[in-house]
Amino acid sequence: MPYKDQYAVFGHPINHSKSPRIHQLFAKQTQQQISYEAQEVPAASFESAIQQFFQQGGKGLNCTVPLKELAWQRAEQLSRRAKLSKAVNTLILQENGTLLGDNTDGIGLVTDLLNNHAIPLSDRRILILGAGGASRGILEPLLQQSPRHIVIANRTVEKAITLSHEFSHLGDIRGCGYDDLNNAQFDLILNATSASLTGELPPLGEHLLAEKGCCYDLAYGNQPTAFVLWGQAQKAEKSLDGLGMLVEQAAEAFYLWRGVRPETSAIIDLLNAERS
Ligand code: ATR
Repeated sequence: MPYKDQYAVFGHPINHSKSPRIHQLFAKQTQQQISYEAQEVPAASFESAIQQFFQQGGKGLNCTVPLKELAWQRAEQLSRRAKLSKAVNTLILQENGTLLGDNTDGIGLVTDLLNNHAIPLSDRRILILGAGGASRGILEPLLQQSPRHIVIANRTVEKAITLSHEFSHLGDIRGCGYDDLNNAQFDLILNATSASLTGELPPLGEHLLAEKGCCYDLAYGNQPTAFVLWGQAQKAEKSLDGLGMLVEQAAEAFYLWRGVRPETSAIIDLLNAERS
């Protein structure tokens, strides 16, 4: 059997991960000889699992919940976007044997919004729900698109305010609580809370979404999330979940590892068809 470079995704839980399927489709499409597997790794075993993986010839790793912050600490070098997001979803073994940490989540989101859904960001009023790791990871790439402003709303108001201050040198951004949104309206509302994972919805008032506005949930599932359903009820022009972001962040990781950029649209279509 020909030798294959080894890649994997670590996480906990990991059994429903679509990443192996996505990377195997990328490899087939670009004729790269790689293997890519999902490995169940709780936080307590992260260090030993990582050592074993790279000692056995692993070339690169994706890390997902709850390991992204640990991967950020573990990386010996960090890309600029990983430094800002304080989370790493992609580790790359470099020629000198050190691990470079990067974060492709934010660019994955922006690519999905702009290229796959033609949702403009420039001069748009954007609301981000949640002020945890998922929000932090998307702020810089969104601000680079010159939105009119970004508001971060969070249950714990201080977290939203602190996070907004960290990025205020990059654009017009502020943090608040859900009650403070009052009569504000937004062209794009992004759900970056973990509420979708438990089928919950942040406390959102009516009329938050401007006419022709769009909703996007960073989470995804085989059924529409509570937030995607909320967007539909608000008559959003588009109300989407994060499947496209998942594929686009994977494509960026694949490019970092292999130097080849997969074509994503056919793969997103395939995964969409499979879940319906
Ligand atoms: P992640 O890495 O997925 O962002 P996290 O850092 O734990 O996870 O952040 C979870 C985010 O979802 C937080 O902003 C959290 O709000 P609090 O900071 O107030 O806890 C938000 N969140 C989780 N469940 C929620 C719910 N049911 N309603 C509203 N916000 C929720």
